[in-house]
Amino acid sequence: MTDPGERLRSSLAADQSSGGVSSSGMADFDSPIAMEALRATRVLHAADQDPFPAPGRIRVITIANQKGGVGKTTSTVNLGVALALYGLRTLVIDLDPQGNASTALGVEHTVGTPSVYDALIGDSSLADVVHPTTASPLLRCVPATIDLAGAEIELVSVVAREHRLRRAIEAHITALPPEERPHYVLIDCPPSLGLLTLNALVAGDEVLIPIQCEYYALEGLGQLLSNIDLVRAHLNPGISVRTILLTMYDGRTKLADQVADEVRNHFGDLVLHAVIPRNVRVSEAPGYGQSVLTYDPGSRGSTSYVEAARELAERGVGLSPIGQIEDSGTPPVPVTALPVGDAVPYPGVPRKQESQ
Ligand SMILES: Nc1ncnc2c1ncn2[C@@H]1O[C@H](COP(=O)(O)OP(=O)(O)OP(=O)(O)O)[C@@H](O)[C@H]1O
Ligand SMILES: [Mg+2]
Repeated sequence: MTDPGERLRSSLAADQSSGGVSSSGMADFDSPIAMEALRATRVLHAADQDPFPAPGRIRVITIANQKGGVGKTTSTVNLGVALALYGLRTLVIDLDPQGNASTALGVEHTVGTPSVYDALIGDSSLADVVHPTTASPLLRCVPATIDLAGAEIELVSVVAREHRLRRAIEAHITALPPEERPHYVLIDCPPSLGLLTLNALVAGDEVLIPIQCEYYALEGLGQLLSNIDLVRAHLNPGISVRTILLTMYDGRTKLADQVADEVRNHFGDLVLHAVIPRNVRVSEAPGYGQSVLTYDPGSRGSTSYVEAARELAERGVGLSPIGQIEDSGTPPVPVTALPVGDAVPYPGVPRKQESQ
């Protein structure tokens, strides 16, 4: 199995052999502390050295799995922070009344805070409820408050109830000048297949499913996949599962390998090579209102999320605007057909117009 930190380690080793490290007076990599400090530096100054490529279109990714505690929120937050630290404008939408993604990003979500609820049920636009984050100026968050718990019921009587989030995202992005449009919108779903998750599946153009490397990992997944098929057939022809991320991998157990193999056999190339290990720093970070990338940038949890985000970004480069692939049934101006302005230069990456 690919070691998620391998790329980072080999690039650090290259630095060392070119003398970059010793010239700064650092000890060599035999010292775990020096290694970790270097990894941390790499992550925190990432955008200067090694920015991720911009996607060929705005990617609206729904992070879903109706199984609880599999790493949906952790993955949304850490992938979001990684994408932003590496130069891509990212918007995280917390669609879970638990508000865990808001907590992990240090965004206030007490009752009364302008939140995704106001955009779904009320008349607020997303622009009214977007908050900055301390993790990166390129990362913004729409928080969820506990009010959202009532939304499943309140939405039932709302016109076009399944499309509320999609309309809100489209209106928001369309109103922004291209150079401010997010490259990535990540939607963190609650652990259920109710109207909130349905809104997220209608709003997204692709689904990322985190799968925990544990027994029963695949149980219930069939139901999620058939729901996605239903949404594709009736509500959102553009939606598909594009990414599977293996989470909480414990290399000491045979079971983790068995689950990982089973998932790879079943889903093939959809599964990212990077695997997120079980790592205590990942679980500690939200307690400090932080992602693991900012809390402990040199940890294995942090570097593996960076690798997963890099793969995600690299896979996004060749994507064409959705309107150009699907010729029927798509809404007239899908969000993803809109141009993304490149505020940050991405050397060597063809700009969208050139890649068509
Ligand atoms: N790689 C990891 N290593 C250690 N702990 C982790 C890791 N990923 C997630 N956790 C912990 O596992 C718990 C569940 O993770 P998380 O909240 O991301 O799952 P979830 O799918 O969003 O849960 P829910 O279904 O309740 O929304 C959290 O306490 C989190 O800190
Ligand atoms: Mg969650």
